[in-house]
Amino acid sequence: MPDKKKLLRSLAGEAMDVPPVWLMRQAGRYLPEYRATRAQAGDFLSLCYNPELAAEVTLQPIRRYGFDAAILFADILLIPQALGADLWFVTGEGPRLSTITDASGMTRMKGKDDIHERLSPIYETVKILSGELPAETTLIGFAGAPWTVATYMIAGRGTPDQAPAHKLREEDPETFSALIDLITEATIEYLDMQVKAGAEVVKLFDSWAGSLKGDSFDRFALAPAKRIIAELKSRHPDLPIIAFPREAGDKYIGFAKEVGADCLAIDTSVDATWAAENLQIDGCVQGNLDPKLMVTGGEALRSEAKRICAALKGGPHIFNLGHGITPDADPENVHHLLEAIRG
Ligand code: CP3
Repeated sequence: MPDKKKLLRSLAGEAMDVPPVWLMRQAGRYLPEYRATRAQAGDFLSLCYNPELAAEVTLQPIRRYGFDAAILFADILLIPQALGADLWFVTGEGPRLSTITDASGMTRMKGKDDIHERLSPIYETVKILSGELPAETTLIGFAGAPWTVATYMIAGRGTPDQAPAHKLREEDPETFSALIDLITEATIEYLDMQVKAGAEVVKLFDSWAGSLKGDSFDRFALAPAKRIIAELKSRHPDLPIIAFPREAGDKYIGFAKEVGADCLAIDTSVDATWAAENLQIDGCVQGNLDPKLMVTGGEALRSEAKRICAALKGGPHIFNLGHGITPDADPENVHHLLEAIRG
């Protein structure tokens, strides 16, 4: 299939000498053109809900670097907002939401089919992008996985250890499960609409999966991902899906196969050589350069990028970071990274 886009070839299981590459948070504050467009929009959320400007910031890193994939510009916390939570961002601190602490919090939530009016600008962004992206660039849609989204809906903010969510899980399992189910169902409808609008791949971000242990991991990271993927694949049989149960550790083993994902994204706590032996046997692996190297650059960046490529070149691999690129990254280092990967 010589005409198939590079990223889609990796997702279909092909090993390549030079892997396709994109970066988590590739559209973001390290780019001056992003900061300018965000200022034009007013603030981060206004940018997410402005289809022309959201499409513009999605395209900025593609123009500058020629990545193999573009990821829709939006946020995982738009789903809570569409379900009825209040959401705002405090500059320099991060997101704030109204909280869900008991059953009464759930009664204030809307249903899974009531989200589309609020989210329609996001579908419009996808539509614009699928018309404007270069022919070789794959468009990735995304959503947060239910556990990660729930941690923000319960605590009302990011938390270092997700303690409020663990507390609700233990003390009011009925409310907790109802919330996980609602997010799961809304996420299916949201991603279905992204695909109908033109997303060619979808990625599920479970950024806090690592704080779920044992049986809780299986019930609240694995099972919801499996349900979302099964339903999306029944509606769109050829849709490739990337799962990112960040910091899952040993639980990465067999995860992609169990949930039905085509690709497993890995963080930096996992070694690429270990991933080749233990994870790539099930299919494509995405990752996993340390984002700090995008700040410091130099020979360490080049040699580590080459080491990851070499470790994973025996099977399907998509080059990426282990987590998002940070605002203090040097835009020039992205050029150096691409040179190291592509030669
Ligand atoms: O990767 C991309 O470029 C696509 C867009 C994207 C954003 N957020 C834009 C964004 C994606 C895929 C996300 C996912 C996301 N959002 C996650 C999962 C991945 C991860 O990083 O673990 C999470 C947990 C969120 C929630 C969120 N959004 C937080 C905690 C924050 C504040 C921290 C920060 O980096 O500022 C955001 C804000 C956010 N989302 C920004 C961007 C570009 C920065 C906002 C700004 O411009 O000020």
